[in-house]
Amino acid sequence: MAHVAIIGPGAIGCVLAAWLARSGRHRVTLCARTPIEAGLRVETPDGVLVSQPEVVTHPERLSPADWAFVATKAYDAEAAAAWFPRLGPSVPVAIVQNGVEHRARFAPWLAAERCVPVMVHIPAERDAPGRVRQRGPAELVVADDAHGRALAELFAGTRVSVACTADLTSVLWRKLCLNAAGAVPALVLEPAGVLRDEAWGEVARALVRECIAVGRAEGAVLEDELVERVLDAYRSGPPDAVNSLHADRLAGRPMEVDARNGAIVRLGRKHGLPTPCNQMVVALLEHAQRARR
Ligand SMILES: NC(=O)c1ccc[n+]([C@@H]2O[C@H](COP(=O)([O-])OP(=O)(O)OC[C@H]3O[C@@H](n4cnc5c(N)ncnc54)[C@H](OP(=O)(O)O)[C@@H]3O)[C@@H](O)[C@H]2O)c1
Repeated sequence: MAHVAIIGPGAIGCVLAAWLARSGRHRVTLCARTPIEAGLRVETPDGVLVSQPEVVTHPERLSPADWAFVATKAYDAEAAAAWFPRLGPSVPVAIVQNGVEHRARFAPWLAAERCVPVMVHIPAERDAPGRVRQRGPAELVVADDAHGRALAELFAGTRVSVACTADLTSVLWRKLCLNAAGAVPALVLEPAGVLRDEAWGEVARALVRECIAVGRAEGAVLEDELVERVLDAYRSGPPDAVNSLHADRLAGRPMEVDARNGAIVRLGRKHGLPTPCNQMVVALLEHAQRARR
């Protein structure tokens, strides 16, 4: 039985914890900032999962683990890292966050060989601490290496599908292309349907084109057709869908702008590639965030 620590039991962390608990093969500990007092209740497309994992709200209470998952927002990396010294010196830490900089983000606190980047595709939202709705299939993608395969084994027999890929870089950049365009609804404070508008569709295309150029410079294999596929994904989805950047802005929470469009700008600069559209989006959203505060 593996002891799995879930650092950041929000929407994604609770879904992962609930399925690991359901497997009956693991001891799960929730490392929470806000106490979770009535156990976990996660509504999934496959039924409601109820469990009572141990909850700790201070690193000193965490006993050594075999695996850890970080599912905080990207901007809470430093606070999440406060749990690492309690895990044990060689414990693998899966970073279940958006963006493409998983290793770089945690480099100050985590050796690269312990860091397991994960592409997460799980539509989920949290109603209250420990109360989560998983609205669609749960899919993770990891590198096809020893840690990736061990992570897949943790979820064996659950409804969380874990794919191991020889090219995680491309998988992460594809997701970033989708997220890059998601800045438009957050910017104009309108749901995804706004991308059906031709002018805003053009802005989204420009954001994705820059993302593709920078991703290719980082070694990702990204085809030109991705631009239209991203736009089609938004245009064919529910027009009232609200992405997480937009939802965070509406709720007055910090946004993951830096990990998304900010990463495109930062890595573009590294390669001498101009990213004026993403740069403008970052400036506008960061301004909106500061103004709100
Ligand atoms: N939700 C989705 O549908 C979805 C889909 C794909 C990708 N993602 C990505 O997955 C990542 C997690 O997103 P999410 O939606 O699960 O976020 P979330 O619901 O906001 O959950 C983040 C959790 O981290 C906790 N936290 C923050 N600092 C902490 C600390 N120092 N120690 C322990 N816990 C801490 C928060 O605590 P509090 O309870 O105090 O707030 C919260 O419970 C993000 O990178 C997001 O972009 C999310």
